[in-house]
Amino acid sequence: MEDNILKIKQIIEEQLARVERMKANNTPTDFAALDKIIIGAAAGDGIGPVIMKSARAVLEKLLADEIASGKIEIRDIEGLTIENRVEKMQAVPDDVLEQIKQCHVLLKGPTTTPGKGDGLPNIESANVTLRRELDLFANVRPVTVPEKNIDWIFYRENTEGEYALGSRGIDISDEISMDFKVTTDAGTKRLARAAFEYAKNNGNLNVSIITKANIMKKTDGKFLSLCYEMAKEYPEIKTDDWYVDICAANLINDQINSNFNVFILPNLYGDIITDEAAQIQGGVGTAGSANIGNRYAMFEAIHGSAPRMVKDGIAEYANPASLLKACEMMLRHIGYTNKAEKLCALVDEASAALDMPGDGTGNTAAEFTDFILQKL
Ligand code: IPM
Ligand code: MG
Repeated sequence: MEDNILKIKQIIEEQLARVERMKANNTPTDFAALDKIIIGAAAGDGIGPVIMKSARAVLEKLLADEIASGKIEIRDIEGLTIENRVEKMQAVPDDVLEQIKQCHVLLKGPTTTPGKGDGLPNIESANVTLRRELDLFANVRPVTVPEKNIDWIFYRENTEGEYALGSRGIDISDEISMDFKVTTDAGTKRLARAAFEYAKNNGNLNVSIITKANIMKKTDGKFLSLCYEMAKEYPEIKTDDWYVDICAANLINDQINSNFNVFILPNLYGDIITDEAAQIQGGVGTAGSANIGNRYAMFEAIHGSAPRMVKDGIAEYANPASLLKACEMMLRHIGYTNKAEKLCALVDEASAALDMPGDGTGNTAAEFTDFILQKL
């Protein structure tokens, strides 16, 4: 008992300190003012190296002039593999994190997350660690289905909620376990601000706040009221809110789903709902994901490392569209909008022309990549 009270006390102290750090760290990087932009590239594991090879080839061709002139550097980040992470017993080994912090943005392949019963030691997810260590507070995930007139963008809170202390739960006894969920004013407001700014800058899109505030009264309750507070600063924007369960249903209701534009969600609901949304778009292999902070940003596929594809010997059939979409978001973030649009069009063209079911049939990642390279 005493032991657990001490653990909880420590957790509270850490969260109070995190809030102070959040308040201090809020000057965004001005990419236009940089002499050189350094893009770190960490392949990760599982199908990571396959899709990263594709992304690198495409980026190197697309950015050939900038790379030649030294305006952009693409730098390999070694060691973000499950083997190295297990060997060092660190979610992101210190030296790897140091290399990443020398870059301005990170392009990241999927990294295996140890789970209960898989025989791997209990180290935290590399995603969760990187999002926390680089303070990447907004997880931005667009989903479009042109034939259904669906154009959604999800702003998922990325550093708190159920994830902040996900590896720090407590077994109170043999029979009782507890996890913790954390919502802060600073963490919620900066996410809500980013979402409303996006909605405003794109023609006052509708904003929907997604919670389960009828059950999670403190944390989601705070999230909901802070988002509505922020909405008052954007009177031209139509804002509503939905509980996450009915949101999941609405996304597959073709009568209403095209009315939604921008979603704001706490971390775990955002995780689940964005996989659902990606599936509506054509599968998790088609969706990119941006993790945006003030100083740093990280771009990745929405999906995991697909160890099953590797085990079945079909990793070569992984769809690189997800990571290429992440490249597109990265190019926009660092100010290369035209190149982003060019890439977007080519990924869509390749997706329409080739067959990437991910089950070892159809086209390979290399064929997908060549299709794009030929048109660049
Ligand atoms: C995602 C992933 C991660 C998450 C995993 C790999 C830890 O599912 O980026 O959505 O849960 O956030
Ligand atoms: Mg997920």
